[in-house]
Formats: sequence, structure tokens, C-alpha cells
Amino acid sequence: MSASSPIIAASLLAADFSRLREEVAAVEAAGSDWLHLDVMDGHFVPNISFGPLVVKALRPYTKMPFDLHLMIAPVDPFLQAFAEAGANHIIVHAEAGPHLHRTLQLVRSLGCKAGVALNPATPIDHAVAVLDMVDLVLVMTVNPGFGGQSFLPSQLPRIAALRRAIDASGRLITLEVDGGIGAETARACREAGADSLVAGTSVFGATDYAAAIAGLRGRP
Ligand code: DX5
Ligand code: ZN
Repeated sequence: MSASSPIIAASLLAADFSRLREEVAAVEAAGSDWLHLDVMDGHFVPNISFGPLVVKALRPYTKMPFDLHLMIAPVDPFLQAFAEAGANHIIVHAEAGPHLHRTLQLVRSLGCKAGVALNPATPIDHAVAVLDMVDLVLVMTVNPGFGGQSFLPSQLPRIAALRRAIDASGRLITLEVDGGIGAETARACREAGADSLVAGTSVFGATDYAAAIAGLRGRP
């Protein structure tokens, strides 16, 4: 675990959707580094969330980088729309299309940082094969599709293995974890080598967002 503070990416999925603009401002003021936006299509995952219009509508109201997590397949036809809506990072699932390498090339050609997401049962080799094409690797620590699920400890050795692979590559790649992250599981993920922590329920479900974010950073 590095001594520096982790990157915190508050996940909008757990916000009050009737007050999205205020919720974004509140997590930014509370110290969130990035805003994580979960896009779901009801096909790749069994839930539907929001699309580029919501991303675009929120873009003027925060300086936080937008960490777009696309749980959609096929994903290629929608990349441009999300880039134009204001995405800074575009994370695609390894299974979101037949040509992951080409998809990542397309993300970068649109001027965004590229990330690959792994479901709990996706072999980590899917990320290792494209380390030269990504700025982020996201390890799902729950099955994607819903907030508020329990953290899967089976992902910890996979996080550690990816940490080793990233370090061995010598590349500057952020290792992000997503799902069931609270103060305790944040610590376990950090010890396994995660750099960035996505947190929905543990932040937006708290009465004090700043205290929740401090807890994720390991501060009392
Ligand atoms: C789940 C999403 C997560 C979700 C995490 O498919 O990718 O980003 O918002 O929610 P919590 O933190 O509540 O587990
Ligand atoms: Zn997510």
C-alpha cells in the first residue's frame, strides 16, 4: 500500500436523483477527487441508469474529473457521445465488444483516458493483455449492475496480482476498485494495492459526506 492518500471517486448511482446537481456539489465540497458515473443498458447488466444527456447536464457544475463506467454492450457506438458529453475517463468492460484493443484505441482517439473493467469472474489476463493501452484498470468487487451490494473478498488476491503486473509494466496506470467499498474494505483494497476507490452507498448514504470520505482515506 502506498503511503499517499487514495483517489476517492464518489459514485453518483447512490445519490438522490431528484437533486443530482446539489449532490455533485456536495461530494466535491466533501473532498471527492473524481465523480464516478455508472452507465447501464439493461442488457450487459440487469439495470438501467442514465446516458450522455445526464453526463452533459452535470458537466458545467463541477471540476471533478468524470470517471465514466460504461456497463453497456456493444459499447463502441456510444463512445463518441460520452466523450462529447464531458467524460475524462472512459472505462469499458472486457466483454463489452469483440475487439477490446480497438475499443481502447477509439477511447484514446477521442481524447479520453481509457480503462478496462473486470467482472469478478473475468480472468485478469484480459487486463494484462492491454496494459499498453490503458490508463486505468477497474476491478469489480461486486457483480456490476447495482449499488449497495456486499464486497467480494475473493477479489483481493486479484487486485494484488494486478498491482504486481502494473508495477512490472513500469506504466502509470491507476488501479481502481468498485463495489461494496467502505472504511474497512477500503483498507483491505489499499493493502492489496488499489490506488482509487469508488464508493456509492458509503458516501451518499452517510449523513456526513466529508466524514465518510475521510474514513475511506483511513482517517478518523
Ligand atoms: C455497480 C457500480 C458501482 C456502484 C457501487 O455496478 O459499478 O459503481 O455505484 O455502489 P456501492 O458503493 O454502493 O457498492
Ligand atoms: Zn461503477
